[in-house]
Amino acid sequence: MGLGLLRDGINEVIATTYQNAAPMGIICRHGEARMVVYRGSHTAGHIEDDGWVVANFIFDPVLYVRTAFEDLPADYFTGEHAGGIPVQRLTGAEAWAAYSAVIERKTNEALIVSLTLLREEIIAPVVHPVNRGFNSIIEATVHATRVVRSDDETLQRLIRHYARLVKRCGGDRELEALSLLFGYLGIPEKS
Ligand SMILES: Cc1cc2nc3c(=O)[nH]c(=O)nc-3n(C[C@H](O)[C@H](O)[C@H](O)COP(=O)(O)O)c2cc1C
Repeated sequence: MGLGLLRDGINEVIATTYQNAAPMGIICRHGEARMVVYRGSHTAGHIEDDGWVVANFIFDPVLYVRTAFEDLPADYFTGEHAGGIPVQRLTGAEAWAAYSAVIERKTNEALIVSLTLLREEIIAPVVHPVNRGFNSIIEATVHATRVVRSDDETLQRLIRHYARLVKRCGGDRELEALSLLFGYLGIPEKS
């Protein structure tokens, strides 16, 4: 089974499950796709209950920040069929890939989930010039979701570092994403 739209390494997608979206890494090694999902997240619960997940390819930095911290309204989701089951993708996705998701292993903290491709579709092929501001939003948001678990000075330093890069290299959408992220973290705008 090929990886389809995913590539070797870790793909930072926005994963949708039933009426839920969150940034998640899909790990592709040796032609196999897996996720490691923290228990307690909505994504983990829905995968346990429903056995499917959709990887959404979308390059809106605001959506990465927003879905890391809150839920989206119903109209952000579009129903599809994949391998005979109803799934949901993000309405704005440029491409999406639906997987059946089987729990391979559980640890105290996480589910290790094995993915098998059911269906994928490219809706709007768009070129994304490399932008360090966008990449830095992804980095800052990863660290921000860790702050929520255990805050420390190192995480705060990393977030400030990536915030500087966003301000230097990002466009309007990255700046909007950064101010949203600062809002979630309770960091004053001017810092
Ligand atoms: C780029 C990025 C990648 C992430 N990858 C994962 C991951 O692989 N597994 C995980 O459990 N959480 C990951 N997170 C954190 C979750 O997105 C975060 O905990 C989120 O609140 C979970 O939302 P949910 O409760 O709606 O599932 C990632 C966050 C970001 C920003």
